[in-house]
Amino acid sequence: MVRKSILLASCFLVAAQAKDYHTKVVILGGGVSGISAALNLTASGISDFMMVEARDILGGRAQNAPFADINVELGCNWVQGLGTNPINQLALKYNLSTTFSDSADVVWYNESGKYDGTATYNKLDADFTKVLDIGMEKLKSNLVDVSGRVSLDLAGWHPKTPEDEAAEYYFWDWEFGEDPEASSTVFAAVNDYWTYNSFGPGSDGNNYVLDNRGFSRIFIEESKKVFKQNDKRLLLGTTVTKIEYNNKGVTVHTKNGDRIYAEYALSTFSVGVLQHKDVEWSPALPDWKLEGIYGFHMATYTKIFLNFPYQFWDDTQFVVWADPDRRGYLNAWQNLNAPGYLPKNTSTNIFFATVTQDLSYEMEAKTNEEVQAELMAVLRKMYGNDIPEPTEIMFPRWHNNPLFRGSYSNWPIGESDEHHANMKASLHNRVFFSGEAMSEEYYGFLQGAWFTGAKAASDITRCMKHKCPSSEYYPEIKNADIKASIVRRGFLDTLQ
Ligand SMILES: Cc1cc2nc3c(=O)[nH]c(=O)nc-3n(C[C@H](O)[C@H](O)[C@H](O)COP(=O)(O)OP(=O)(O)OC[C@H]3O[C@@H](n4cnc5c(N)ncnc54)[C@H](O)[C@@H]3O)c2cc1C
Ligand SMILES: *[C@@H]1O[C@H](CO)[C@@H](O)[C@H](O)[C@H]1NC(C)=O
Ligand SMILES: *[C@@H]1O[C@H](CO)[C@@H](O)[C@H](O)[C@H]1NC(C)=O
Ligand SMILES: *[C@@H]1O[C@H](CO)[C@@H](O)[C@H](O)[C@H]1NC(C)=O
Ligand SMILES: *[C@@H]1O[C@H](CO)[C@@H](O)[C@H](O)[C@H]1NC(C)=O
Repeated sequence: MVRKSILLASCFLVAAQAKDYHTKVVILGGGVSGISAALNLTASGISDFMMVEARDILGGRAQNAPFADINVELGCNWVQGLGTNPINQLALKYNLSTTFSDSADVVWYNESGKYDGTATYNKLDADFTKVLDIGMEKLKSNLVDVSGRVSLDLAGWHPKTPEDEAAEYYFWDWEFGEDPEASSTVFAAVNDYWTYNSFGPGSDGNNYVLDNRGFSRIFIEESKKVFKQNDKRLLLGTTVTKIEYNNKGVTVHTKNGDRIYAEYALSTFSVGVLQHKDVEWSPALPDWKLEGIYGFHMATYTKIFLNFPYQFWDDTQFVVWADPDRRGYLNAWQNLNAPGYLPKNTSTNIFFATVTQDLSYEMEAKTNEEVQAELMAVLRKMYGNDIPEPTEIMFPRWHNNPLFRGSYSNWPIGESDEHHANMKASLHNRVFFSGEAMSEEYYGFLQGAWFTGAKAASDITRCMKHKCPSSEYYPEIKNADIKASIVRRGFLDTLQ
């Protein structure tokens, strides 16, 4: 009897907790894109909206965690593209502590010890400029894309040794999150061009954020313009499980049984989340849209943090290890004790490695102890057997995380501009899509999340005024004219 009444009581509790909400716009996800959308709606005079976020904090992939005596960034870490980039403007506004990142401030190691990789790196740097030219030429002439590998070869870059491969990894994979084989040349060029040339004088650069308030602070501060303390419109700790939609509106279902009835929804979920069916769509997303979603890539970029009792490594910002056996194996290391970063030899001496793609998946499947042993084996090859064991290890498992399913998107060879338009196309002018992956120019970057969020919010605002912009999509994509749409939309007009 007792047992039964407890059961009844808990059933009742669940039923009593489930709520129905009614609102005009529901923003799904409280990352940078969602925050940008909320700011844009607010600036347009719209206050009848809600935001649903699974985590207990806003910021999404702008995310930090305590490690040693500081907060380290698990996700985004650089302001990439300076000048008028809105992310750079926010960093300045909130006085975010940053250091200019210099990828040439690097030393190179292989099994023989330190070597001079400068000439190789400089050749690759020059060849990469040719790759960008190849991409831009193809874009302008509406020619079919080639992979990064093909354009690197065309540019005269033919890696043969582990040292060449390590330089290439440091140059390419460490930026795009995937190797040149997987990547589009045309859109790598678009992405690079817009990121480093479209934000006015001084835009060509990367600032590394090392601020104990966290990179996310600038976005959380901005969100306070929208959400007051305990704002009823903000549902934190609330996971979306299902989205029902038709031409009249949207019903969003949450894990705890809540329902949110809205006229419009904005999905800011990562393309990884959309690919993994972590959220159910009813009706199922149409095939023309799924083709665009499945064809895009959610790369995984994993920072593996180690803290040591003292610094035994080089003073440069970066260290590259040329592994004799495997390309991409613990190639890229970062020193948080470099000049302009943290003071030396306190109890915080952080040296961390980054892995991507298959190696990320492999590391995610291992225990911290196993991963630590692998990193230490490489460090001993570089710095000898007398180095101390780390006092701490930590790394995020982005790919296995159902709220992200990876780190950031990369434009793969094979995805045309029309596929991408389909991926982000709205449904019935009721469900809209934003987030970093939905940006043609700035996919992968924070500004991609920021711009697409504002754009989607302004599209929704226009729909509310019965002036819906027509959403471009292609039920059939004809290979013959693969980039016609990008040309039609005047995407090239801003190029000299
Ligand atoms: C390791 C790493 C390194 C990076 N480095 C850089 C960098 O140096 N510079 C740079 O510019 N960019 C970098 N990025 C990319 C940058 O972080 C992203 O582009 C940006 O944060 C994406 O914002 P978003 O709003 O599009 O997506 P998200 O931040 O993913 O926002 C989506 C939100 O939806 C929530 N969500 C997901 N599923 C559900 C659900 N079912 N119910 C409710 N909520 C849900 C998530 O919790 C999340 O908060 C990096 C990212 C990572 C992970
Ligand atoms: C910005 O930070 C620096 C260093 O922490 C500090 O000296 C300066 O006063 C700050 N400026 C503003 C405007 O907060
Ligand atoms: C390390 O790199 C240098 C410079 O490229 C090269 O001469 C040397 O043979 C390499 N060592 C090994 C073990 O391959
Ligand atoms: C840090 O401390 C170690 C051990 O005391 C010492 O060997 C090393 O030179 C110090 N490094 C720096 C950069 O001060
Ligand atoms: C909302 O975003 C759009 C697209 O970026 C922009 O043109 C518009 O000015 C923004 N609206 C407001 C009120 O800030």
